[in-house]
Amino acid sequence: MLSTLVLPLFALSVVSANPFAAHSNTAAHSIAARSIAARSTTPIAAAWYAGWHATEGFPLSSISWEKYNTLYYSFAETTQDVTNLSLVGSDGELLPQFVSEAHAHGVEAHVAVGGWTGSIWFSSNLATAKNRTAFVQTVAKFASQYNLDGIQFDWEYPNHQGIGCNTLSANDTANFLAFLQELRRNPVAAKLTLSAAVSLVPFNDATGNPSPDVSGFAKVLDYIAVMNYDVWGSWLQNVGPNSPLNDTCTTSAQQQGSGVSAVKAWTNAGMPVNKIVLGVPAYGHSFAVAPSDAFAPGKKELVAYPSFNASNQPLGDTWDNTGSVDACGVYEGPGGSFDFWGLIDGGFLTKEGKVAGGIYYRYDTCSQTPYVYNETSQIMVSFDNVESYAAKGKYIKNTGLRGFAMWEAGGDYNNMLLDSIINAAR
Ligand SMILES: *[C@@H]1O[C@H](CO)[C@@H](O)[C@H](O)[C@H]1NC(C)=O
Ligand SMILES: *[C@@H]1O[C@H](CO)[C@@H](O)[C@H](O)[C@H]1NC(C)=O
Ligand SMILES: *[C@@H]1O[C@H](CO)[C@@H](O)[C@H](O)[C@H]1NC(C)=O
Ligand SMILES: *[C@@H]1O[C@H](CO)[C@@H](O)[C@H](O)[C@H]1NC(C)=O
Ligand SMILES: *[C@@H]1O[C@H](CO)[C@@H](O)[C@H](O)[C@H]1NC(C)=O
Ligand SMILES: *[C@@H]1O[C@H](CO)[C@@H](O)[C@H](O)[C@H]1NC(C)=O
Repeated sequence: MLSTLVLPLFALSVVSANPFAAHSNTAAHSIAARSIAARSTTPIAAAWYAGWHATEGFPLSSISWEKYNTLYYSFAETTQDVTNLSLVGSDGELLPQFVSEAHAHGVEAHVAVGGWTGSIWFSSNLATAKNRTAFVQTVAKFASQYNLDGIQFDWEYPNHQGIGCNTLSANDTANFLAFLQELRRNPVAAKLTLSAAVSLVPFNDATGNPSPDVSGFAKVLDYIAVMNYDVWGSWLQNVGPNSPLNDTCTTSAQQQGSGVSAVKAWTNAGMPVNKIVLGVPAYGHSFAVAPSDAFAPGKKELVAYPSFNASNQPLGDTWDNTGSVDACGVYEGPGGSFDFWGLIDGGFLTKEGKVAGGIYYRYDTCSQTPYVYNETSQIMVSFDNVESYAAKGKYIKNTGLRGFAMWEAGGDYNNMLLDSIINAAR
């Protein structure tokens, strides 16, 4: 049985791409059996499912379950109370149904804990031995209660401020490791697939710099998912790639990190390459760019890294936040993100995912990502398409990475991105 379970996912056809599917009606299809498979080198074909989009056009029935072997329900948020994980922002009533649907399709059902708005209390929840023990109990109980196959820790970020009001400590990374080691000793959690969603560089150590040694994490985590997105956005001075595959081929001023640099940073710190999953975005960032900045002088050719008007953030698609008070109580304007389907809705792309008539296009050869530009609305979007997903899939295969995880399942259109990365990584 094990030999079947460890068959490379990408060797199977796209329509029956699930290595667990054949076992879904057998007794062997238990949490334990699936976790053994996961703790081997089974390639990961995963996506995050944003619970709050269930009622905004992406119900559970829209998930292409057969193309994945793991889905992460997002998010269970940390709270001030170490005994409580909150599903308040994520349609918690849907979680049991998510888990049973996943299991019916032979897919591992995980919950992602934390996220951008849900990481506020990680540091305090893990700060002392007493709190870590309590949080181990909380996580194990939560996993049992919902019959989960895995937990992903999406702490943004240990000893590095994220949203702005996170509790924070110089000891965060050491405490995180101590917590994971204790969690692994818990009889429930020992059987779970444990992963972490991480930034492009290793967790900050007590000096505030990326840890030179994360080998301890490699022992307790099944894998990490590198969030290779939001690398460039409105917080920088120029339009740049949301999700650069590479940046070692560009000038140092344009090196904000990439898939290539992240894999180098994590492997140099002791994370095995086959424990690294590439996080890929099914969305892009928009910018207000004047035609005089967008085009090369005298030509209608898009230039690289143009400047943009930061006081005029365009609104993205219908899932974009139009502006609201965040979890820290601070007002945030529109995010400006366009899902892949949103670019089609917004007239940038055709229903085939090709560039629409009247839209300018540029494919950057170093980051291996595309840009579209509407001269009339003066909106430029840095995003990912079938071609950039194929480049990422090929990189996963050639480098021996563990697989991919897409933010978010509901961002794709007719599985165009998903099929592209699966085919290329196969
Ligand atoms: C857990 O925290 C959430 C969010 O703060 C709250 O709504 C919920 O009532 C809490 N649950 C328990 C059992 O304390
Ligand atoms: C431990 O957790 C409790 C909440 O459950 C919190 O009040 C306390 O501040 C935490 N300890 C530290 C040192 O952060
Ligand atoms: C970090 O942990 C050490 C013990 O390991 C402790 O002495 C120190 O007070 C902690 N620092 C903070 C900021 O919590
Ligand atoms: C990244 O760029 C470097 C430098 O040009 C090149 O050697 C390498 O092959 C590139 N890697 C990928 C995956 O594109
Ligand atoms: C930038 O956008 C703001 C808000 O729309 C506008 O008032 C301003 O004139 C723009 N600046 C430039 C240089 O176009
Ligand atoms: C470009 O933007 C303008 C103004 O918003 C809009 O009317 C037009 O349809 C857009 N072009 C395309 C090809 O979508």
